[in-house]
Amino acid sequence: MAQENTKLFQQILDHSHITHPYPIYAQLRETPVCQQEDGTYVVSTYADVMALLRDPRVSSDERKSADLSKVSPATTDPEFHPTFIFQDPPAHDLLRRLVVNQFTPERIEGLRPHIEEVVQQQLEAHRQTTRMDIVDDLAYPLPVSVICRLLGVPIKDEDLFHGWSTILASTLDPGQTGTEEQKQKIIESSKQLREYLRGLVNNLRAHPEDNLLSDIIKANETEKIMTEDDIVATAGLLLIAGHETTVNLITNGMLTLLRQPEIQERLRQEPDLIISFVEEMLRYDPPVQFRTRTTLAAIDIDGITIPKGASLVLIFASGSHDPARFERPEECIPERTDNQHLGFGGGIHYCVGAPLARIEAQIALRELNRRLIEPKLDQEPPPYRANASLRGPRHLTITYKGLR
Ligand code: HEM
Repeated sequence: MAQENTKLFQQILDHSHITHPYPIYAQLRETPVCQQEDGTYVVSTYADVMALLRDPRVSSDERKSADLSKVSPATTDPEFHPTFIFQDPPAHDLLRRLVVNQFTPERIEGLRPHIEEVVQQQLEAHRQTTRMDIVDDLAYPLPVSVICRLLGVPIKDEDLFHGWSTILASTLDPGQTGTEEQKQKIIESSKQLREYLRGLVNNLRAHPEDNLLSDIIKANETEKIMTEDDIVATAGLLLIAGHETTVNLITNGMLTLLRQPEIQERLRQEPDLIISFVEEMLRYDPPVQFRTRTTLAAIDIDGITIPKGASLVLIFASGSHDPARFERPEECIPERTDNQHLGFGGGIHYCVGAPLARIEAQIALRELNRRLIEPKLDQEPPPYRANASLRGPRHLTITYKGLR
């Protein structure tokens, strides 16, 4: 094993590498399963990430780790109730099914007019100016508005859970347990979000509305699968997923268009290409770069034995850049076919919100590209958020000559 590879993952977490982690992933792939100095096993090739995503000996419950010191404080808080993203079968499958059954194609397609309306409103609000921040002015407000509508959260409460959501998303980077004060802040945010959502769930139980969360509560009255804590935790998972991921898909997509004007032009000539362009963005610069897992038994893979109770980091973004699986992986090819990227994960935890995220990104990027006249990037590279796993720019300020 190349000695220096034992420190590479630490470099990924180091903010100075946040704008371009892909060369580090390429180095990591030279040792596909590589134990880091802190004991974590980092997995970076497409084949190995896929194999482990489908392996029943690999758990999403980090409380099963042999070393709890690296686990997020929100997870080890005694009041913590895990959502199904942090659970294994059979509980995971039961809870997930109840939610997936409510994510019907009709419900998701039915959101199209709302998504179109929010995108046009946000753009029209910038008709009189020649500068906007893609993050604050469109990429963030759009998914937030959509997830609030799905859950029945009043949009006026957004300021409250914006902060909680950012703090909780920051805990997804491994080993980021922080100072005692930060730990307290995480536990406090988790508690406040839970209490807020408990109120919402109780209200919707008493007065059902026409939204996804009401329908999950209703379906559960018959199926009796979820406890109240499960419903509250599920609402929190959907709220955070709706806040912290799609924003980066839209922003990363716009950043690529700004850097590669020839793709802007092609998308204007061939608007239907937006569908495969969004797929390519999920491969080329994905919002979720990596996820953690724990082994329930010893696993032999690629000449290495990973022991039971070990912490794994599966680098989805590296798998999606693996030259053994994708031709010219470092290029953004909008018409790419055979594109089974890892942008939405794989196996039993494959993203529940994928169809919704796709529609939001397709509409937002299509309209940004169609309507902005000569958009130019203000700062290269743009400033990034601190989070390395849910990765994307904090701001993407552009200037432009007007709206079409
Ligand atoms: C799971 C990515 C948007 C809900 C996942 C996973 C990924 C992912 C990679 C797998 C996690 C793992 O294996 O540990 C994304 C991306 C999005 C997005 C890139 C936007 C571009 C959404 C939205 C929602 C959502 C909008 C809900 C409204 C979920 C849920 C899971 C999940 C509930 C857990 C599934 C399970 O554990 O069975 N997502 N997601 N996601 N996502 Fe998304």
